[in-house]
Amino acid sequence: MRIPEAAPGSKVLAFGHYQPSDVVTNDDLAKTIATNDEWIQSRVGIKERRIAPAGESEVDMAIQAGGKALAASGLAATDIDLVIVATCTPESTIPNVAGRVAHRLGIGAPGAFDVNAACAGFCYALAAADSAVRSGSARNVLVVGTEKLSQWIDWTDRATAVIFADGAGAAVVSRSETPAIGPVVWGSAGDKYDAIIIKDRDSFLHQEGQTVFRWATTALHPVAKEACERAGVDPSELAAFVPHQANLRIIETIARKLGAEQAVIARDIVLAGNTSAASVPLALSRMIERGEVQSGGLALLLGFGAGLTYAGQVIEIP
Ligand SMILES: CC(C)(COP(=O)(O)OP(=O)(O)OC[C@H]1O[C@@H](n2cnc3c(N)ncnc32)[C@H](O)[C@@H]1OP(=O)(O)O)[C@@H](O)C(=O)NCCC(=O)NCCS
Repeated sequence: MRIPEAAPGSKVLAFGHYQPSDVVTNDDLAKTIATNDEWIQSRVGIKERRIAPAGESEVDMAIQAGGKALAASGLAATDIDLVIVATCTPESTIPNVAGRVAHRLGIGAPGAFDVNAACAGFCYALAAADSAVRSGSARNVLVVGTEKLSQWIDWTDRATAVIFADGAGAAVVSRSETPAIGPVVWGSAGDKYDAIIIKDRDSFLHQEGQTVFRWATTALHPVAKEACERAGVDPSELAAFVPHQANLRIIETIARKLGAEQAVIARDIVLAGNTSAASVPLALSRMIERGEVQSGGLALLLGFGAGLTYAGQVIEIP
């Protein structure tokens, strides 16, 4: 047996993102369910979210975000040899989303697979891309987080309807002479498997909000700290902290417990809602676009959600 040529490290060349054009405000939701703008903003932090129309799928959104990341990376579609899509809301389970995204972007015959780790999915997929590049199994990888959660939400259930939304974010990962994607810290709490669940194909998403809230605000800052430690980075050196955009109170609690006061904290949930596997790349891509973070700075990514699953790693911002 021979081991293929390996790369010393991998890096994100570029991010891209996409949001559907339909804006749904809290006041819009309050017209049909017993909720209000004040409650949603104070308990969750969301002002508005984007919802994809009937004709726009998670594949369509992935293509938009993936196409932008690809264009910004300077690579051609034909340079990509692996496509990984993180999603927990595929319109159909067969075939996978990754193969369709690759085909429509003109990426010929890449490895193509989906990752379902719910809201932690992008960080899992990024870790898989990093491993594939470093082991020599792939040269250039397109990693996408895309979700159309709106199709799994009961729009009369105020416990979930005010939280979840649609969107996509993507990154292109390539080889690097120095590591620019740190070791992943990943894990799960399967004893809470039913805290966020879609029971069967006729059900909507159900969530035990307080169980998830308690877990997220107590179990995840050690994961964040470990991801920094494993990358040899002190939290005080972070330029950005980009946690999953689940709830502004969760984001701020983890950020405070992490001790990275100097970092720019992603608060994309305010205008994007909770877009599950899309939220981390969507938030960071928008921070880069707005010039809130500089190329070369270190960002800690932290995904967490149904499963319950979690994953985090430090990356160099492209
Ligand atoms: C879902 C969540 C926002 C609910 O907030 P909460 O503070 O736990 O709210 P509770 O469920 O305790 O409800 C508090 C009150 O608000 C009411 N309420 C619940 N949803 C409401 C809504 N959308 N609008 C207005 N009132 C609402 C409840 O009925 C309850 O009223 P009561 O005190 O008269 O009984 C919160 O638990 C949460 O964010 N959990 C984490 C979920 C998460 O991050 N999931 C994604 C992980 S990927």
